[in-house]
Amino acid sequence: MNPFYITGDIPDKYFCDREKETEWLLNKVKNRAHILLTSPRRMGKTQLIYHLYETPEVKNQYYTFYTDIFPTTSLHEMVLLLSKEIYRVLVPRGKAALDRFLASLHSLKGSFGYDPVTGAPSFDVKLGDIHSPALTLEEIFNYLENADRPCIFAIDEFQQITHFPEKNVEALLRSYVQHTNNCLFIYAGSNRHILENMFHSPAKPFYNSTEQLYLDRIPREKYISFAQRMFSEGGITLSIEAATYAYDTFEGHTYYVHNLFHNAFSFAQGKKIISVDDMKSVLLNLLEEKRHSFSSLMNQLNYQQKEIIIALAKDGKATGLTSAAFIKKHALKSPSSVQFAISTLLDKQIVTYENEGRSKWFMISDRFLSEWIRNTY
Ligand SMILES: Nc1ncnc2c1ncn2[C@@H]1O[C@H](COP(=O)(O)OP(=O)(O)OP(=O)(O)O)[C@@H](O)[C@H]1O
Ligand SMILES: [Mg+2]
Repeated sequence: MNPFYITGDIPDKYFCDREKETEWLLNKVKNRAHILLTSPRRMGKTQLIYHLYETPEVKNQYYTFYTDIFPTTSLHEMVLLLSKEIYRVLVPRGKAALDRFLASLHSLKGSFGYDPVTGAPSFDVKLGDIHSPALTLEEIFNYLENADRPCIFAIDEFQQITHFPEKNVEALLRSYVQHTNNCLFIYAGSNRHILENMFHSPAKPFYNSTEQLYLDRIPREKYISFAQRMFSEGGITLSIEAATYAYDTFEGHTYYVHNLFHNAFSFAQGKKIISVDDMKSVLLNLLEEKRHSFSSLMNQLNYQQKEIIIALAKDGKATGLTSAAFIKKHALKSPSSVQFAISTLLDKQIVTYENEGRSKWFMISDRFLSEWIRNTY
């Protein structure tokens, strides 16, 4: 069995570090503060939330809900997903718990409840059944307020609500949250820019309503000793150089480092020790497996866009993309063509950026792609 989980829930034993963050979160929960959780993509927000939910302090006292609203484009859809999540959590809790929720959701009566023939709980709400999302939302909050346990509701990719066509969604949600004493909210997401704007601008409804955790990489020593322990429990020695290579190649970016360890562990079956060279060849194999999808992605880009992402791959991250220096260094055409190409690449989320002080640092979102381009071009 591979101890490096790359999908699904991670059992405690295979969850790396995040001790301080978990303690911080528990403390906020105890003090009844709502939380804003941000990080670059794939740093480990979702897993951290699941981990918090599995702590005995939370698990034994709260109902815990988690909804990722990334796929939603309207309040209708969000309301549907929130209801479905509450339903999912309450079903195993038994009839009394579920009945409380059913009793609150008048507007969806008939679309869910118990199957008249088998008596089994069923949920068959369609988007069209939600005639007034604001009303259903109010009922959801009514339920949360009256649930037989305190609740924690995590809404992941929360920035999505800013794209909803309905007016004042932020203000509407905020006003319900404000009047809820029985439910804490964790708003999570990777679009730091939009989220911080929602929560830190005095003119915005969510202003000052949360405590923020910015989730950074797991510290190198912690990650390395965790990885070495996992390997040694499998009877394999992971050399410190190999572990350091894995961490440093991806600057400790959790998803990428973890994938590499995962593949190294599979590769190691039958071996006694994993060296840097082994780790390098595992990485090359991993990139080779992705060659087809990376090639077709490159195929969809025009010449200018390709030039830019190759330049970004070579630099790792870069600022001042339209500056004379950058253009000259990478033999690009003109500031305007760079500008145009970059904005398309950002739209397609192939490229992302971080704000550091006053400057914007651009990079390829997928670190595997970046590594592959560096090796290929
Ligand atoms: N503490 C951890 N221990 C072990 N693996 C982890 C940990 N945190 C994250 N991972 C690994 O990184 C992957 C990505 O984590 P997660 O999905 O939580 O990131 P995220 O920040 O929510 O990403 P996204 O922005 O894409 O939603 C996990 O599937 C897992 O393989
Ligand atoms: Mg996530």
